[in-house]
Amino acid sequence: MREALKELGLLEDRLPGWRLWREVDANHGCAFFQFVGYDKMKIPTVSLPQESQVDPLLGTPGWTKAEEVKFIRWLARQTAGNILEIGCNDGQTTLELGSALPNATVYACDYTGPGTMCPEQKAELPSPATLCQRARHLPNVNVLDCPSAALDYKKLGDISLVFIDGDHSYQGVKADTEKALDHFVTTKAKGKRFIVWHDAYEDAPSWVGVLSYLNREIVPFFDVPRVAGTWLAYLEI
Ligand SMILES: C[S@@+](CC[C@H](N)C(=O)[O-])C[C@H]1O[C@@H](n2cnc3c(N)ncnc32)[C@H](O)[C@@H]1O
Repeated sequence: MREALKELGLLEDRLPGWRLWREVDANHGCAFFQFVGYDKMKIPTVSLPQESQVDPLLGTPGWTKAEEVKFIRWLARQTAGNILEIGCNDGQTTLELGSALPNATVYACDYTGPGTMCPEQKAELPSPATLCQRARHLPNVNVLDCPSAALDYKKLGDISLVFIDGDHSYQGVKADTEKALDHFVTTKAKGKRFIVWHDAYEDAPSWVGVLSYLNREIVPFFDVPRVAGTWLAYLEI
């Protein structure tokens, strides 16, 4: 397949800005290309603060790397309100946030029903048994089994940090971000408030639209640094 593509001049070196993302079936001559030229990192990078990394974690995270969880926890400790995690899965990050912030409520949203995820992400779907299983025993963790589009911020008490790690498609992350921004601009601040995005990385497969979305629709208007060595970007509001 690669040889055939090469002959046609269809490999990366011949198509600036495009890279071969997936060869599906040589028999059918089918390949997918992803345009990456537009999605180079336009976001400024800040270094990972060492003080965010000091305290150990209770568990071993997997979806979100340990240093990322520690950074989110460090931001969350600077806020006075409650936390919303969109896409909690089995609660690896929720456990750390809930334990570190016993006076805050951590709303852990995920959806065990048929959601909006594209085929590539569907494998992440939790079952009712695994939904937030690592953290749902905590008294301050409130598990919400619903699509994030159904969240009503007015019914959640005083959210001051939203961790967006749900539907990673361009439209998914856009919908989650716009709801969070809408909440923050229509409510009064009691302290620092943050939106944190996961999966903001270069050369992601084309179904992961986080960086594309941030580059195109957020970076032109807001200061959204990326944290060096991680897939996190965040906005302080
Ligand atoms: C990468 S996992 C999240 C990992 C978790 N944040 C952690 O740090 O351990 C992404 C999750 O987003 C959930 N998800 C996808 N689309 C969603 C939606 N529209 N509403 C709520 N959750 C969604 C998936 O079911 C999946 O469990």
